[in-house]
Amino acid sequence: MLYPQKSAISHWKLILTTNPAPSTRPFHHLQRHGALYCGKVSLETLARRYGTPLYVYSADQIAERLQLFQQAFAGRDHLVCYAVKANSALAILKLMADRGAGFDIVSGGELERVLAAAPEAVDRVVFSGVGKTAAEMDRALEAGILEFNVESEAELELLAARARRLKRKARFALRVNPDVFAETHPYISTGLREHKFGIDIRQALRIYQSAAGNRWLQAHGVSVHIGSQIRSADPFGAAMERVSKLVRQLSSAGMALKAVDAGGGLGIDYHGGSFDPAAKVREYAAAVQGALEGFEGTLLLEPGRFVVAQAGALVARVLQVKRNGKKTFVVTDAAMNDLIRPALYQAHHEIVPVKLRTGRPRVVDVVGPVCESGDFFARDRKLPPIEPGDLVALLDAGAYGMAQSSNYNTRMRPAEVLVEGAKSRLIRRRETMADLLAPELLAKPG
Ligand code: LLP
Repeated sequence: MLYPQKSAISHWKLILTTNPAPSTRPFHHLQRHGALYCGKVSLETLARRYGTPLYVYSADQIAERLQLFQQAFAGRDHLVCYAVKANSALAILKLMADRGAGFDIVSGGELERVLAAAPEAVDRVVFSGVGKTAAEMDRALEAGILEFNVESEAELELLAARARRLKRKARFALRVNPDVFAETHPYISTGLREHKFGIDIRQALRIYQSAAGNRWLQAHGVSVHIGSQIRSADPFGAAMERVSKLVRQLSSAGMALKAVDAGGGLGIDYHGGSFDPAAKVREYAAAVQGALEGFEGTLLLEPGRFVVAQAGALVARVLQVKRNGKKTFVVTDAAMNDLIRPALYQAHHEIVPVKLRTGRPRVVDVVGPVCESGDFFARDRKLPPIEPGDLVALLDAGAYGMAQSSNYNTRMRPAEVLVEGAKSRLIRRRETMADLLAPELLAKPG
């Protein structure tokens, strides 16, 4: 995260080398010789030790963010099921599980990650996603997950068939589509009828009723997820109102649900503005819980981004600073394959020099070496002076950063480091060329 402004709980700090006290001011207010730290560890040290590009995460901040949710909902029965897709590093999953979190998964692969990192947490797993295969369902049924969030009638039929075959009752929730608009990027909005997600909420009662006769299905809950990076609490409240009405209808029809899953989606401030995460979570909790009054079962939550995004930065080394006509390009050794959010969603990530230089700020594009004009991290951004060989940090990259990385241009994916207080730990080594070539077959087998 950007050098934390008012927030007292951040672990990314800009430390003035001339003044050992951590600064709480944004970097552009500092005059000279600043250096970026994660917890007590300098990013320069980490870059030297592990190379670049490098993802660095603060374990302390992740734990604190998780706790914000757990505290905000402490007054009721609840379970935070961290959305694995945001950052699926095994060490991070373990950290979450150790602190009582469950998991929201969307593939068999993510289930294997949970089983590898924290098998004891498998009964705290909810399985979302629009297209689950029979094999994925079988594995999840055998592992004994908490709930399948089912997205269509056909999927429910398939689940019933697999459950019958394995003689294991499947706990399910219908993921309803509440037809609620939430202001966010169109690629990550999911709660309108025109989207591929969920079951029209008006059809849900009928489907629950028809499933009631199947001995291999247990109507365990209802789930909803309206989108991601949603900054206002209002749409969450509106969606929950609709879900709550359905829960009451079901209860009157003799089907009392055990769980309501509110999904994820709470957004952060990528622009480094003053942002009070605790207040945000409380506001979100009030909207969700207010709408659910009278429901005594378990409230499931699936936050992803809010927990991990601001705990992570992508550290890159500047390869060149080149001028083309009027434009200045800062070329880094990180590229769109390492962090695709700017290219894919025109997402903004603050970029800060790891060590501040004196001098006038310049308007630059920050780009990677990949052969596409879409390979940019920032366009026309006013940044402090940056020279070849400098380190820069792309902030708020802990969510959907490494998780969406690829090997495009045959680039090896970054290493990942987890920082806890004064200690840093490599949690994923940098890929090697041998890793990349391993699955490929050159000659015809046999
Ligand atoms: N639950 C479900 C069913 C989801 O589909 C998602 C995210 C979440 C929970 C977690 O949402 P979060 O709390 O992280 O907003 N790649 C995009 C974001 C895609 C989100 C997809 N679903 C990005 O980089 O902004």
